[in-house]
Amino acid sequence: MVTQFPIAKEKQDKLLRPDFDNLQNNLTQMEKMAAIGQLSSSVAHEMRNLLGMIRTAAFNIDRAAHSSDPTIQNNLEIINRNVARAREFIDNLLNLSRVSNGNTEVVNLCNVVDNLLTLFSKELEWREIVLKKNYRHLPLYRIDRNAIQECFLNLILNAIQSMDRGGSITVDVEDYHQGVRITVTDTGCGISPEDLDIIFDQFYTTKKNGQGTGLGLTIARSIARDLGGDVQVRSRKGVGSSFMICLPRLVSVPDQPEPTTEELTGSRERKTG
Ligand SMILES: Nc1ncnc2c1ncn2[C@@H]1O[C@H](COP(=O)(O)OP(=O)(O)O)[C@@H](O)[C@H]1O
Ligand SMILES: [Mg+2]
Repeated sequence: MVTQFPIAKEKQDKLLRPDFDNLQNNLTQMEKMAAIGQLSSSVAHEMRNLLGMIRTAAFNIDRAAHSSDPTIQNNLEIINRNVARAREFIDNLLNLSRVSNGNTEVVNLCNVVDNLLTLFSKELEWREIVLKKNYRHLPLYRIDRNAIQECFLNLILNAIQSMDRGGSITVDVEDYHQGVRITVTDTGCGISPEDLDIIFDQFYTTKKNGQGTGLGLTIARSIARDLGGDVQVRSRKGVGSSFMICLPRLVSVPDQPEPTTEELTGSRERKTG
């Protein structure tokens, strides 16, 4: 015989109701977040394209004007600096919302690094930073190119930002303990020993006037760890820093064709600026 317990049921309803409400709230919140995520991702892509056009236009004006007028030069510099900052922010935003699809492709790691560096040639020239590259010949690997690029990008940006004007950045790509190591060394401001523990924390930044988001190193490390590696750092305050992307043995491609001479020398001989 089934006995009805109206009071118990009422109680049960009461008990369940808040949970249900909570669930409903959570779902609504999640839907909202997903919608915001999608929206910000498409806005970010659009903004990136617009910024790319502004940057190109500024570059063209710079070339066409050949002007020694400090007003023109200063304003072009302001445009370029702020476009670069906006791009960094948007890239970080995109990286955060990115769900890695884990797509891999066969790449020459030195070329991946070098292609990204060419994007900064003008920036380095303006800041009078000397770029040195030491690429060891590595096999072709199958790897997530975007992931490596994003990881490396954050280290390069930090290295550039660690110096006011002048100085050098050295990029090494080499075999390391059966894996691969990409090292970015700068002669910038350096990091004190007590800060070394917290620089990888989310939203930790020492950059002023909204220049930093405090997400770069968090993202770089999480990407490297996803790939089975890590990002390590060595630094001396006032002397400079080395950030290392250490990756485990990558999947090298069997029976690969030897890279062409162009592929090997082209990347090494290209000068910055
Ligand atoms: N190459 C570097 N030289 C000196 N300090 C650095 C370097 N890279 C990172 N840092 C320090 O770590 C902090 C966090 O870096 P990051 O996560 O990339 O955030 P953000 O660059 O937006 O500040 C920086 O604000 C800076 O204090
Ligand atoms: Mg950064």
